[in-house]
Amino acid sequence: MTKYLVQGGKPLFGEVEISGAKNAAVAIIPAALMVDGVCRIENIPQISDVTLCLRILEQLGANVRAINRHTVEIDCRKIHSTRTQQNPAGKIRASYYLVGALLGRFGQAEVAMPGGCNFGGLRPIDQHVKGFSALGAKVIVEGGFIHATSESDRLKGCSIYLDVVSVGATMNIMMAATMAEGNTVIENAAKEPHIVDLANFLNSMGANIRGAGTDTIKIRGVDRLSGGTYAIIPDQIEAGTYMAAVAATGGQVLVKNIIPKHMDCITAKLVEMGVEVEEHEDTLLVRRTGPLQKANVKTMPYPGFPTDMQPQITTVLSLAQGTSLVTEGVWSNRYRYVDELRRMGANIQVDEKTAVVEGVDHLTGAPIQAYDLRAGAAMVIAALAAHGESEISSVHYIERGYEDIIQKLRRLGADIRSVEEPEEAEERKAHIG
Ligand code: EPZ
Repeated sequence: MTKYLVQGGKPLFGEVEISGAKNAAVAIIPAALMVDGVCRIENIPQISDVTLCLRILEQLGANVRAINRHTVEIDCRKIHSTRTQQNPAGKIRASYYLVGALLGRFGQAEVAMPGGCNFGGLRPIDQHVKGFSALGAKVIVEGGFIHATSESDRLKGCSIYLDVVSVGATMNIMMAATMAEGNTVIENAAKEPHIVDLANFLNSMGANIRGAGTDTIKIRGVDRLSGGTYAIIPDQIEAGTYMAAVAATGGQVLVKNIIPKHMDCITAKLVEMGVEVEEHEDTLLVRRTGPLQKANVKTMPYPGFPTDMQPQITTVLSLAQGTSLVTEGVWSNRYRYVDELRRMGANIQVDEKTAVVEGVDHLTGAPIQAYDLRAGAAMVIAALAAHGESEISSVHYIERGYEDIIQKLRRLGADIRSVEEPEEAEERKAHIG
């Protein structure tokens, strides 16, 4: 069992290089299944969700070759199965993209129901199913698997209006429609940077997708995708997490390899809180010298403030002067981590979708748990800012989405290290506690 030990209270100084975007990579890797050729994908983040995605492709017959730490070549010319195994497909949320990819190319898919981050609420896929059905597929969920089969030789282009703005449904329908007969229009589509990235990837392999990044995406079906080279965009949320860490601890950090436009929604909020952010071509200089000011935050689909930054910004606000209101506008239950912050001295009351955050002078180190990926990132930020030592458990969640987080933070002067602890010692502690 791995834990992080953090001695808090040190400001961060230096430079941090942002990795490729997790939520783009976990869609683009399944989309490689649609390519009848070799695709070379660059700027792939080294995180456990990516490792699992690549393993699933290999199980289906793909030839995956690591060129270097951040580049892979994937050859899907000899796929021998359209049914995933339970493990690891059942472990990650993004395995739902395999349905759109396999259905789009082979007209059938059987995919283990996805796992991934659990915020305590249901994560429905009705909009994905609605899209596949509109394209002419029969979809049933049975025995822990999603079964999707095209009712004719080829899926048929159609018009789909999404009832909710869903990132996953938008990308999944886009994949399924890429090789359908005729034209597909997705309205009320999500506009996140990773949606544009997936469309750019597919287009670079021969697809004909227009309008990604707006709420209307138009797809003209093509017969075949062939190989090519593509580089994944930088991770907006990883960058935002380091910006939030500097806001919480103080100091000055140059956040490198980012697309400033993608960061606007996060930058604007941090500036409102008294953090200085200087924008350059592909870097942001983040500095916090004075006290943090309260701010109200509401999460929404892009270009609104991202839900995947909500735990991190709430943690920063717990140290701001005054009372802030945080409203979660995307997921119904994403505040489980607040109990951990309270154990460190934060003063936060949650009422359904709203958190009332009364800023405190400081947090105090404590044993805390990462409940999911972004909650885990928030725990790291809290521990870095707190007085004294914190011990963070369940860090495998954090490693699903943050490449080399320990090394990157240590290079900024943080006192954080990863320790292996035997399970028995854990149990003993639990009994004593
Ligand atoms: C993606 O999840 C991300 N995951 C999530 O990031 C992120 O929180 C979310 O988008 C919102 O930005 C990946 O990209 C792998 P949605 P996704 O479909 O696609 C409702 C992280 O930490 N909904 O946009 O599953 C749903 O309940 C992860 O990196 C339906 O009602 O999210 C939610 O309220 C966690 N029916 C809202 O839409 C559906 O069929 C947005 O969900 C689908 C979604």
